[in-house]
Amino acid sequence: MQQDIQKVIITEGEIHSMVRALAHRIQAEHNGETLHVVAIYDGSILFLADLIRHMSIPLRLYGLRAKSYFGGTQSTGRVEISGFDPAEVRGQPVLLVDDILDTGLTLHAVRRQLEEAGAMSVKTCVFLCKERIREVPVEADYHCRTIPDEFVVGYGLDYRGLYRNLPFVGILKREVYLP
Ligand code: XMP
Repeated sequence: MQQDIQKVIITEGEIHSMVRALAHRIQAEHNGETLHVVAIYDGSILFLADLIRHMSIPLRLYGLRAKSYFGGTQSTGRVEISGFDPAEVRGQPVLLVDDILDTGLTLHAVRRQLEEAGAMSVKTCVFLCKERIREVPVEADYHCRTIPDEFVVGYGLDYRGLYRNLPFVGILKREVYLP
């Protein structure tokens, strides 16, 4: 797996200090309320697990699946959501958690569903933001780092299901996914 990585851009140590700092910031801004954390699986699971274990405020956790990539490295422009009824968070403050903000299609589509279902507020939180023009108007209220527009893997991020367990974030070598 390591031989498929062109360059490590975020080390394990950097990840843990960034995620801890972000968790403390979110917690401080939501003191006194029960946070309803809605996570987009599978990409967010490592980030999510680290983020919430650094929070001591009461929170409820929900998960859903949203697919826009279908196994490749480019977005298809379509987003399918499953496994969660947005009505469950009606009237509640929601923290929507994903791994990476790229085209913005996923976060935009899920946020809209939560808002339409009557969430009291929806704050968006991603581990990484890609430096690029979004295809839809959405930005993250919270993020750990902005990265160049490259396909990255590790710390939950995958290519065709692989590399999620790498403890760092790295740029995938182009020859791995280009013909
Ligand atoms: P959009 O384009 O909807 O992307 O903002 C969100 C989802 O696309 C996946 N994604 C990536 N996955 N490396 C990955 O492993 C990447 O560089 C990358 N860019 C986007 C990811 O699942 C994310 O939730």
